Amino acid sequence: MKNLWVLAVLILVFSCLNDKNIPLPVKPISIDTTTIPPVVTTPVVTNCSPDTVYFSQTILPLITSNCAMSGCHDVISRKEGVILTDYTNIMREVKVSSPASSDLYKCLFANSEERMPPAPATEFSSANKGLILKWIQQGAKNNSCSNTATCDTVNVSFSASVSPVLKTYCVGCHSAASPSAGIDLSTYTAVKVYATNGRLMGSITHAAGYKPMPSSISKLGACEINQIKAWVTKGMLNN
Ligand code: HEC
Repeated sequence: MKNLWVLAVLILVFSCLNDKNIPLPVKPISIDTTTIPPVVTTPVVTNCSPDTVYFSQTILPLITSNCAMSGCHDVISRKEGVILTDYTNIMREVKVSSPASSDLYKCLFANSEERMPPAPATEFSSANKGLILKWIQQGAKNNSCSNTATCDTVNVSFSASVSPVLKTYCVGCHSAASPSAGIDLSTYTAVKVYATNGRLMGSITHAAGYKPMPSSISKLGACEINQIKAWVTKGMLNN
């Protein structure tokens, strides 16, 4: 009987000691799923024309996330005197009368004096170069459209709901080649790390204690935030 007691005490002591060696798990952010609105079934209402490139929806996020990071063309760093955080300043690099000779467009090419964004950032894809040129050709307007299309928070996936948003709004600063704050958001594996430790949701919802992201422009739209939230809640699948 006495031996049994000794054994019990030993087991207790060892399990306590062992506890100390187990690293504390990262506390996952608690996501209140009740705040994710159910899928909206109202008909698609949009005045976004598929033929128009909009400044607010496409050009501003593309430019700020690839050019207006700290050390480059934000208001404080203003490299070469160039600020690319808002319409008025961006227009200083645009020539509506001769779109292809706009500095905003010319600088994107490898054969320009100094390609932008410079290495280690990768060169703009031809699709993105095309968007900049098309927007200038369409008059470089300070335009936007509203899209109250169905916000599906049920059928969410990494490839359709999460990755495109991060590519537009975040990867310019958080690329594998030059990750701001050491944070790479360019691949599923890398994103899952920040989805798991709560920093992804904390930053895009502007929760207390997190740096609000994207850092250079306003908050993501409610639909995008809810879709990312739904993807996290459903287990962060690589789908
Ligand atoms: C213009 C550049 C820029 C853009 C665009 C940007 N980030 Fe950041 N991000 C930063 C910088 C710089 C930091 C470090 C902030 C600091 O420490 O002050 C950071 C920090 C973070 C952090 C850590 C925050 C924390 O409090 O732990 C996360 C997560 C993050 N960004 C996610 C994102 C996401 C998601 C997006 C897109 C929705 C995004 N970022 C867009 C530059 C950017």
